[in-house]
Amino acid sequence: MNGIQDKVIAITGASSGIGEATAALLAQRGARLVLGARRADRLDAVATRIAQDGGGRAIFVATDVGDAGHAGRLIEQTLAAFGRLDVLINNAGIIKTADFLEISEADFDAVLGRIRERGLDHWADPARHRPGEINHNDGGRGVYFPDPDGHGLEVITRPYGGGAS
Ligand SMILES: NC(=O)c1ccc[n+]([C@@H]2O[C@H](COP(=O)([O-])OP(=O)(O)OC[C@H]3O[C@@H](n4cnc5c(N)ncnc54)[C@H](OP(=O)(O)O)[C@@H]3O)[C@@H](O)[C@H]2O)c1
Repeated sequence: MNGIQDKVIAITGASSGIGEATAALLAQRGARLVLGARRADRLDAVATRIAQDGGGRAIFVATDVGDAGHAGRLIEQTLAAFGRLDVLINNAGIIKTADFLEISEADFDAVLGRIRERGLDHWADPARHRPGEINHNDGGRGVYFPDPDGHGLEVITRPYGGGAS
């Protein structure tokens, strides 16, 4: 018996990497698992492997954590299957490698889309004199917005002084 035995644990991002490895380890220790990620086929394979390895019960729920409805469904299905949720591991995420602060035009569109969708304040300048705008400094695009703690974040597609290409 250990502290993990029979705990109901939901893990997002369980279809690969750290989430998948964490799920396998917790299953070996007797946890009951709910696996969340977007790729249902991968989750199915992870759940099957856990069952084959004798790791107990694992269900999966295809989930895009960027969609509030999906996230709610993950919790609802956990409660429907196991009657409770003891631990939620918010592991889902992506890593983008780029020069510090600099991102592609497509990533900029995605970030700006999220800012607008969530109704966040944003500015074209760090001093916040140009609300609701983006800048086109150095031939790129830039925007400033607050993180959940209120710290200012900057996203730019061209380096300072890089000029238009
Ligand atoms: N590896 C590192 O060195 C490192 C360092 C620091 C932080 N981290 C963080 O640790 C976490 C796991 O990293 P990893 O290296 O294991 O990455 P990974 O192998 O790329 O796995 C990422 C997982 O997140 C899922 N995911 C991505 N977007 C999702 C979304 N919108 N909704 C639901 N699931 C989503 C992916 O599954 P689907 O594609 O099937 O949705 C996948 O299962 C990430 O949050 C990452 O940022 C990793």
